[in-house]
Amino acid sequence: MTTTTPTADKRDQVVIFDTTLRDGEQSPGASMTLEEKLQVATLLDEMGVDIIEAGFPIASNGDFEAVTEIAKLVKRGVVCGLARAGNGDIDRAAEALKHAERRRIHTFIGTSPLHREFQLQLNQEQVYERVVSSVTRARNYTDDVEWSAMDATRTEADFLCRTVEAAIKCGATTINIPDTVGYTTPAEFADMIRMLIEKVPGADEVVFSTHCHNDLGLAVANSLSGVAGGARQIECSINGLGERAGNAALEEVVMAIKTRGDIYPYYTNIDTTMLMRASKLVSAVSAFPVQYNKAIVGKNAFAHESGIHQDGILKNAETYEIMRPEDVGVKSTSLVMGKHSGRHAFREKLIALGFELGDNALQDAFRRFKDLADRKKHVFDEDIEALVEDEMTQAGE
Ligand code: KIV
Ligand code: ZN
Repeated sequence: MTTTTPTADKRDQVVIFDTTLRDGEQSPGASMTLEEKLQVATLLDEMGVDIIEAGFPIASNGDFEAVTEIAKLVKRGVVCGLARAGNGDIDRAAEALKHAERRRIHTFIGTSPLHREFQLQLNQEQVYERVVSSVTRARNYTDDVEWSAMDATRTEADFLCRTVEAAIKCGATTINIPDTVGYTTPAEFADMIRMLIEKVPGADEVVFSTHCHNDLGLAVANSLSGVAGGARQIECSINGLGERAGNAALEEVVMAIKTRGDIYPYYTNIDTTMLMRASKLVSAVSAFPVQYNKAIVGKNAFAHESGIHQDGILKNAETYEIMRPEDVGVKSTSLVMGKHSGRHAFREKLIALGFELGDNALQDAFRRFKDLADRKKHVFDEDIEALVEDEMTQAGE
């Protein structure tokens, strides 16, 4: 591929925080068994995910057990548990994480007027006090504390700055700016992160993080813009699994950073050749199918049917592919035979199936194949074999 990626030592790392097992599992209908969660956590750890958000320990005994077991299992990455801004939540998260080699407590509170007034029934000062008390309490258990301003993108800028400053002063090491309802846009989000980093005292001592939901289909674009604005952690999930329209898809942010090193001069620790396996596993355990045209891991992401595209791919794959399929764990490009396919791809298909036809026979077989493809939605290898064998029989008569 012809991208101009700077050398690793000149690039900043973008920390990949996976929330498939927490926000992903909150997706209606996506709950997983303990065994399934352990399988997913093992794969995420092997794949190089930096932080694995394993669950929300106070939410249920099942979640507590899952976080506890994942904490024992994971060797490489940091295991994280979610907690609201209350003592009970934080203590429960700390208890579940106690066996982890590396642990993070992620505590959050709604900061926007809507959340303060309707969900929490707290005023600004009361929310501010909760930020102070929750981060301080979490720091008693671990020096890796993440604080999130839930609904940050609909929060007054001044109040957001005050709460972020308080969280940093109390010892938070990661400040997460969630776009909880998928409301922001790329330019606005980059400006917000930039503004926080410029204005808040102590901002240069912590890692800023994005957590973008996909209600307007902008989660990945917003996350990448957040990074352009100075964030160095992206919260995301496999297949974009998450509340409502989901979270930023891990495979998409990682491949965007890898493929467009010219405009995103960063690196991640992800072994991208494991992306397809992770997608299939999460799809199987959540029972959420992956749409055919899903970027990176969809069935059609490296499949071509049009004659023009197939001809180009056969001459040089870069004509119509910006990533190599093997880089995301897909065996190879597939040329799907259908009514849009051209002669070049048809001849290559025949060679792959072990047939060598002369020019006239090839011409005839191609014409018959096109007729068949007009009638039949899926033309399988067996259809082509039958068609060619018939052609050869007729030519032999
Ligand atoms: O979307 C959100 O705001 C969250 C927080 C708990 C980080 O999931
Ligand atoms: Zn979320």
